[in-house]
Amino acid sequence: MSKLLAISSSPRRNGNCELALRSFCRAAEEKNISVEMNRLHELRLEPCRGCERCAADGICIVKDKMEPFYEKVATVKGLVLATPVYFGSLSAQLKIFMDRFQCWWHAKYRLKKPFVELGQNKAGFIICTGALHRKDFGDSVEAIGKVFFHNINYHFGGFLFLPGLDRKGEIEDDPAALKAAYDAGVKYVQSYLL
Ligand SMILES: Cc1cc2nc3c(=O)[nH]c(=O)nc-3n(C[C@H](O)[C@H](O)[C@H](O)COP(=O)(O)O)c2cc1C
Repeated sequence: MSKLLAISSSPRRNGNCELALRSFCRAAEEKNISVEMNRLHELRLEPCRGCERCAADGICIVKDKMEPFYEKVATVKGLVLATPVYFGSLSAQLKIFMDRFQCWWHAKYRLKKPFVELGQNKAGFIICTGALHRKDFGDSVEAIGKVFFHNINYHFGGFLFLPGLDRKGEIEDDPAALKAAYDAGVKYVQSYLL
């Protein structure tokens, strides 16, 4: 099992947030920390049905490619999520992924048997790319990320907003943005993974 689970949630392969995520993860690989990279869009996850069946046992009844992620998130030490800004918020793919952890919400708050304990010191990080220099868009993604990490008992390990990136792969023309992602990775790795 890898130590760092990396999830890109843009439908664009090799788009801005995926490239930023790779820069971030390079900081982990340079320290010989194993990284597992995933593209959410390719998993075609079903949204939460709100059926509340998970209230009984903390297990989601929807059987799709989300299933292995519960074990992964329970086992890895770090989780880094990357999303483009879509209409001032995060991508639908990432929102679906987060909502599918409603079963963990029940496990934590109703059943009092969380799948992760805060004392395990796992930490999550979010990277967000957007076209516009609109801080409020980044703030909105950060706020949702904080709620998600809180619910799954991960510490909030940080947030990086990279605005001014629109065209696919535009980040490759912006060394400062790629460096910011790498530097954020270095700091995160030092703080939570070593
Ligand atoms: C459906 C859609 C909605 C978008 N909404 C916003 C937005 O509200 N604000 C913004 O700054 N950029 C917006 N963008 C631009 C993307 O956030 C930007 O191109 C981003 O860098 C894409 O990252 P990617 O290459 O990883 O997909 C939107 C793009 C799409 C396709």
